[in-house]
Amino acid sequence: MNPTNNPTFADQQSSSDVVGKPLVRVDGRAKVMGAAVYSAEHNQLPDLAHAVIKTSDVAKGRITGFDDSAAKRIPGVLGIFTHLNLPPLAQTPSTSEGKKKIALAMQMSFTPLTSDQIFYAGQPVAIVVADTLEHAQHAAALLKVSVVAETPVVSYRDTQAKLFTPTEGAAAQVPAKRGDAQAAFSNAPVQLTLTCQHATNHHNPMEPGATIAHWEAADRVTVYDTTQAIASTHKALYVMLGLPPDNVRVVTKFLGGGFGSKLTMWPHTVLTAQVAKAVGRPVKLVLTRPQMFTSMGHREDQQQTLRLGATKEGKLLALLHEKISTTSPWDNYAEMNSKIVHMLYACPNFDASVKLARANVMTSTYMRGPGEAPGSFAIECAMDDLAYQVGLDPIAIRLLNHADKDPGTGKPWSSKSLKQCYERGAELFGWGKRNPKNGATRQGNKLVGWGMASGSYPVHDAQGNARVRLYADGHALVQAAATDLGTGTYTIITQVAADSLGIAPENVYFELGDSALPTTAMSGGSRAAGTVSSSVFLAAQDVWQKLIKLAIADQHSPVYKAKPADVEAVKGRLQLKADSTKGEAFITLMQRIGLDDLEGVATGHYGSSYESPEATLNTPQAKKDDAASHSMHSFSAHFCEVEVDTELGTVHVTRWVSVVAAGRILNSMTARSQVIGGSIFGIGAALMEGTVRDPHLARYTNASLADYHVCVHADIPEMTVAFIDEEDRYINAMGVKGLGEVSIVGTSAAVSNAIFHAIGHRLTSLPITPDKVL
Ligand code: MOS
Repeated sequence: MNPTNNPTFADQQSSSDVVGKPLVRVDGRAKVMGAAVYSAEHNQLPDLAHAVIKTSDVAKGRITGFDDSAAKRIPGVLGIFTHLNLPPLAQTPSTSEGKKKIALAMQMSFTPLTSDQIFYAGQPVAIVVADTLEHAQHAAALLKVSVVAETPVVSYRDTQAKLFTPTEGAAAQVPAKRGDAQAAFSNAPVQLTLTCQHATNHHNPMEPGATIAHWEAADRVTVYDTTQAIASTHKALYVMLGLPPDNVRVVTKFLGGGFGSKLTMWPHTVLTAQVAKAVGRPVKLVLTRPQMFTSMGHREDQQQTLRLGATKEGKLLALLHEKISTTSPWDNYAEMNSKIVHMLYACPNFDASVKLARANVMTSTYMRGPGEAPGSFAIECAMDDLAYQVGLDPIAIRLLNHADKDPGTGKPWSSKSLKQCYERGAELFGWGKRNPKNGATRQGNKLVGWGMASGSYPVHDAQGNARVRLYADGHALVQAAATDLGTGTYTIITQVAADSLGIAPENVYFELGDSALPTTAMSGGSRAAGTVSSSVFLAAQDVWQKLIKLAIADQHSPVYKAKPADVEAVKGRLQLKADSTKGEAFITLMQRIGLDDLEGVATGHYGSSYESPEATLNTPQAKKDDAASHSMHSFSAHFCEVEVDTELGTVHVTRWVSVVAAGRILNSMTARSQVIGGSIFGIGAALMEGTVRDPHLARYTNASLADYHVCVHADIPEMTVAFIDEEDRYINAMGVKGLGEVSIVGTSAAVSNAIFHAIGHRLTSLPITPDKVL
């Protein structure tokens, strides 16, 4: 992507120093002009055929036969594939060997169309390929599937559901206990118990899951796929298809959101590759909106119970967190809600447990702030209750329990500006004018409430590679196999490359979204901004080190015969550290010595494996103040005003302030958009999002955007977003913590706390729809 396509861009910036500035999206013009080619839009492929998945209406049972006589008569049908005739995969994640090889690249270990068993409603049972989409749809509709149905289990709430404590899988990873939480709770002068229920949530990005598979030879395939994670999709595909890694290429140039649904590969992607091979033509598959509810995971329905013990003054003594949730017949997945309960406040005693129930549902998955988003709802509603109980302001109770170091590990924070988030948020919101009494502010038939909550998100470990090629005419090609969810990766990396190379952003060509490029971290867990920016920054340093070597060897250079350590690169100039007048632009050097271009590569580390150069230089190991000895998190504070209509039971968010501390902010405009998006996501989860399953058939009854409500403009007020500047030398070379998740964590609790302040009673069953308010 190159910003010169964007006429407004050139007006804004002409030189370096663009990191942090509100640069307009370098891909913005391509997007609004329809020139941005999304995964399902590679329509130039010759003889592109179309696939349609036929799904099961039944949630549990066995397929006894197919009748394809009518379907086959539809013109243009190229193939009708079921478990009876689909050519098998070399490997699937359901075997122990496959699990080892594909682990983490696929969230669900079950592979549809491998047997006659039906485990969930919406499970693919056939895939029809035809010359046009309409022919494929028509044939799929005519295909008859005979099924013997059995009684399904719907969720953990079913009477037939059997709860168990997982001993393996993601759900088994509960944070370590500390102290004796049970005893401390029993002896605590103040005891609170909060139980919250969360409806199943679905990601519903604007762009649904979609794949085009194009076999260029019998053993070579290019897959255009809607993935947030190029490297793991690439791996899952070459392992499952039994091909050498180099024979599979994954391309994702643009994404229309994902929210975690595109973090791991789902069955439709490999099914598309299988049928494309079978029919000998490139094949396109786009999931329908209803299929999006049963094809790419969801946030599981769950119940949390948080027991909180405190002193009469409001100091925490004990936190006991229990979670119960629904999982699939095969996988032990549950978001780890207790992670945030574990680290958000100073508390000497902590314990957590997870229980699962298997039901006839696909495997749930990561969804924005997985674990932290619902976990923060429990702890931040409970802290609000505690504030009322001991007669403290909600901010005061949080300051009283502020964790000066990580309560779980005892490590110091790499940086933490939560107190500043509270202070700035309170100022922007006018929190000081808040009436401490709840249920006391009435305007006509509306009750008005103010609530706030904290958020936090960890810096996960990641690493990634980048390549920078600097040309003698002053432009650069920058490459990394990252993805841009729409959050601004193209733009922020262009800014970082421009500053690192001392060239204008319009001279940077940043290429991402292709497994042929240097491998980097997924756009997930808030890793991408920090990892990719750091690797690009370091690759630029690699370029400079190579150029400095050439400069000091060139007798016409102003730095001729200098020691490499005495030369630095500043804004594209190679100069003596001691005398900046002795230097020249890289363009001058490269053109004089006839060097057309020069390449630099680097690996950027994000998280505890990062070691800042200052930490390692001349520092004895024993004294080394390195990243691994720190706890790394971003923090946020959200403030919400609601109006509750006491006659209709409707809740309207009327004011919003979010303040976020997430290390260095690479672009103040895209960062603000991230925070607004996260907050809206949290408001949606609090007030409207949730699917409802039929208690007998175990089907989703509202699997469409007409019936699954998400926030629209009318639901959202003007939002105020502020950032606390942080310099953090332990996170990565750029000091970037990432914004994807911290923007949502705490937001649902802020809404619930505002409702509590408005109406005087606590609502903890999400979403808080009008029937629950009345
Ligand atoms: Mo996010 S749930 O890490 O895409």
